Amino acid sequence: MGPRILLYTGKGGVGKTSIAASTACSIAKRKKKTLVISTDPAHSLGDAFGTEIGPKPKQLTENLYAQEISVNEAINTHWNELKGYLTGLFQTEGLDPISAEEIATLPGFDEASQLLYLRQHYDEKKYDAIIIDSAPTGESLKLLSFPEALTWYMDKIFPVGRLAAKLVRPVWNTVSNLSIPDDEVFRSVESLYDYLRKIRSILTDSKISTIRLVMNPDKMSLSETKRAFTYLLLYGYPVDSVFVNKIYDETTGSFFKGWRSNQGEIIKDVNDSFTDLKIFKVPMLKEEPIGLERLEDMSDLIYTDTDPLDTFSKEKSIQFIKKDGKYIIRLKLPFAEKKNLEIFNKGGELIIQLGNWKRVFYLPTVFSDRNPVKAEFINGVLDIEME
Ligand SMILES: Nc1ncnc2c1ncn2[C@@H]1O[C@H](COP(=O)(O)OP(=O)(O)OP(=O)(O)O)[C@@H](O)[C@H]1O
Ligand SMILES: [Mg+2]
Repeated sequence: MGPRILLYTGKGGVGKTSIAASTACSIAKRKKKTLVISTDPAHSLGDAFGTEIGPKPKQLTENLYAQEISVNEAINTHWNELKGYLTGLFQTEGLDPISAEEIATLPGFDEASQLLYLRQHYDEKKYDAIIIDSAPTGESLKLLSFPEALTWYMDKIFPVGRLAAKLVRPVWNTVSNLSIPDDEVFRSVESLYDYLRKIRSILTDSKISTIRLVMNPDKMSLSETKRAFTYLLLYGYPVDSVFVNKIYDETTGSFFKGWRSNQGEIIKDVNDSFTDLKIFKVPMLKEEPIGLERLEDMSDLIYTDTDPLDTFSKEKSIQFIKKDGKYIIRLKLPFAEKKNLEIFNKGGELIIQLGNWKRVFYLPTVFSDRNPVKAEFINGVLDIEME
């Protein structure tokens, strides 16, 4: 059994690093070997622990390790060579418009290197838990949509997923008029493809991974959290909880009276909006949560008697349903707006576009040769009926 993975994300400055670090302390205290990694290029994990942390896991206590990922270290020759080849392909004419667009939305290959680290730690099974302190929401969403975007695109251009590399070469001419990549490129594409598929399957498996949303009780943070939740569900990532951090309690006096009432309204909205998720409420602390001792104290306040490694919600974001002879694809998108939602079928793939985010669904066989005939979007649930 590999490690449990917890990923904390949210708007800039809401407390992702503090809560991720504090969670890691709490798990390590329970005698589980824990690694907390920062994937934010602007690392601040070291600041939270009050000690320097490098690109290699550093032991902080008996069971606690921390690592600040260095993109430069991660991109090895294998990646550079591949990057060069793919760049060549992007510029080749004859790619269909969707793949061109898909390519345009691909984040840098740099970001993928962080996923490589995650895969490595997952495979090595050295840790019981991996806690990810990620970059602010927008960046982590790019990171999380990367494996899927690239896998989809590779499926189109390199049919390596279905055929052994040896077989691909003769087939290549019939599927593409692009230049034939040499063996080495084929091998690297094949391993990259497998890598990304595996990473996506790890991150979307709710038995292994959990995504947790961190926010502050203010309007802007709430809006961003709702948006992030929708996009994460669109990509099939398991979100189980919301952490409302920096809540002013009564001891903050009359100066904060207005803020307290404002925060109260936001918290009510959070309770009403994220009904399937566990909501953790974290007070504004009197001192910055810096250093092991304060981070441990903070975790006692956050988790009280719950185990941070538990999964707090097991709701499935996508379901394939067969009912009264009808085939229905049901997708939970709680805060999506109908006017921003587009659904189309392209060559047997169901494409759902929401604002700038697009998800391509590989349909199960019974659905694959059916077309969407009707879509209903009621109370945040999208039902797509397939003929
Ligand atoms: N509950 C809290 N009470 C008091 N201070 C807090 C609390 N949570 C976090 N802080 C402080 O708020 C600041 C921002 O927190 P932190 O760095 O954890 O946020 P972040 O979301 O990781 O930020 P970034 O987006 O820059 O990575 C830090 O100074 C941290 O010590
Ligand atoms: Mg941070």
